[in-house]
Amino acid sequence: MLYYIEAKAQGLDPLSQETARELDPVKMAKTAVTPLFPDSGILKKIGLLDDPTYHHNNVNLGCIECHGSFVLAEPNGKLQGWPNIGPGRINPDGSLGSCTYCHSGHRFSVEEARKPEACGQCHLGPDHPQHEIYEESKHGNLYATSGESWNWKAPVGEWGPEDIDAPTCATCHMSGFGDIVQTTHNVGERLYWELQSKKSVPQWKGPDEVDLITERIPDPVQAERGRQEMLLVCAQCHSSQWANNYFQEFDKVVEDYNKVWAHTDSLLQDAYNDGLISRDNPIDETPEIMHYLIWHHDGRRWRMGASMMGPDWTHWNGAVDAIMNKLGTMINDLETRRKLKTIDDKLNLLLEANGQ
Ligand code: HEC
Ligand code: HEC
Ligand code: HEC
Ligand code: HEC
Ligand code: HEC
Repeated sequence: MLYYIEAKAQGLDPLSQETARELDPVKMAKTAVTPLFPDSGILKKIGLLDDPTYHHNNVNLGCIECHGSFVLAEPNGKLQGWPNIGPGRINPDGSLGSCTYCHSGHRFSVEEARKPEACGQCHLGPDHPQHEIYEESKHGNLYATSGESWNWKAPVGEWGPEDIDAPTCATCHMSGFGDIVQTTHNVGERLYWELQSKKSVPQWKGPDEVDLITERIPDPVQAERGRQEMLLVCAQCHSSQWANNYFQEFDKVVEDYNKVWAHTDSLLQDAYNDGLISRDNPIDETPEIMHYLIWHHDGRRWRMGASMMGPDWTHWNGAVDAIMNKLGTMINDLETRRKLKTIDDKLNLLLEANGQ
């Protein structure tokens, strides 16, 4: 993102090989202090951020494995940024993404892509535990206990509730299913909310309409269309009242999170304004770290758990971790800072009065 914005600002084509050689996106990513690279604040504090002997190799074998990066073709035919298979891969010909992360090379199987393991490779962990949520849901339970006997080979467009007992990730998000739901390769097509963002809003406009990196504009019309499409999937197996009621309850969870987020964010802004913490390093002090975790880890789990029938993620790993643990820690830390500041201020006045 930093790279993309910098390239645009310099009037360069962010997808070209020349720009990537000049600006070196991976190096930029590794040395910027930003909540996008949450370890950066502390690395700066302990002096390792710019240390040339520190490799930041969790970026190469972490972020980039899941997200993809530039693949640069050297004149001698060697490839840099390779191997990597993420959806954001920028190929030497300027094209984006890869197919093999869902359909492994050589086999190129639809069956593989229909199973949740194909998605769980990236959609897991503390900040987007969709695979764990699915495993704990009734749907995931049914897949684990009887999925072996389901019909995974039905031709595309002919897959339906007669073939499987419960939906997988692909069923809900991508597959043609039953008589009326068409296959899509746009995984955002059936979503209403942005659940990964700090504040949840209806799905952003897609890359056909806006520059997704720099413009994040909610599109309530497309979001409503997405919701209706998702409901059509549910309706293949459930009554529409069952599904509608579930979504009503889910939407209330998103609203609750948004309220807690607004409070968290205003606490942080007040702390900056009152001089309790400093703005220069955005992710090194306890309130900043808690603010980050409430959004990026616990708040996502809370919303995502609720969206896909994972009650433990909604409550214990979600709401409780966000509110009691992180927000509680943030509030207590700020109260201590406020008290210390009052004592400090008084002490300074005293010292001044004494001419010291
Ligand atoms: C285990 C795989 C994995 C790793 C490692 C990973 N991500 Fe992600 N990231 C994802 C997935 C999957 C999503 C989509 C989550 C969602 O929409 O619910 C995502 C979402 C994001 C988003 C939000 C995209 C948007 O549309 O708003 C950003 C930004 C991001 N990741 C940056 C990073 C950075 C930077 C790193 C390393 C510091 C990183 N990620 C590490 C898998 C990963
Ligand atoms: C029963 C249907 C269903 C199944 C099965 C399912 N999902 Fe979802 N998923 C949803 C719904 C519903 C939402 C929220 C849609 C909305 O915003 O209204 C969602 C949201 C998401 C999001 C969006 C999060 C964001 O950042 O906005 C991701 C990513 C996702 N699911 C991935 C997965 C993966 C991976 C699996 C399998 C491990 C999976 N889903 C299984 C229905 C399902
Ligand atoms: C995010 C996972 C994912 C990625 C990435 C992906 N696919 Fe698919 N693909 C699927 C799923 C799931 C199906 C099965 C759809 C169904 O059940 O209706 C599928 C089906 C297909 C089919 C048969 C159905 C049809 O529409 O004709 C083709 C061909 C295909 N994919 C090609 C590709 C190509 C080419 C790429 C890379 C540009 C790609 N896929 C990337 C998940 C993916
Ligand atoms: C190689 C890693 C990887 C795999 C495998 C993968 N995804 Fe994703 N997925 C991502 C990343 C990274 C993002 C976030 C992209 C972004 O917004 O920049 C994402 C985003 C999404 C979203 C959110 C889209 C939106 O518009 O908010 C959904 C839904 C999703 N993926 C579903 C799936 C499903 C279903 C599968 C399996 C069929 C799958 N993904 C396989 C990495 C992966
Ligand atoms: C392929 C069929 C199928 C599809 C599609 C499907 N479900 Fe289910 N769902 C089931 C089955 C089977 C059960 C288990 C019912 C039972 O207990 O007998 C279930 C259970 C549930 C439960 C109860 C889980 C619990 O732990 O209380 C909810 C809620 C639910 N589904 C919502 C949805 C929603 C919302 C959608 C669409 C996004 C959806 N389902 C799509 C088959 C499906």
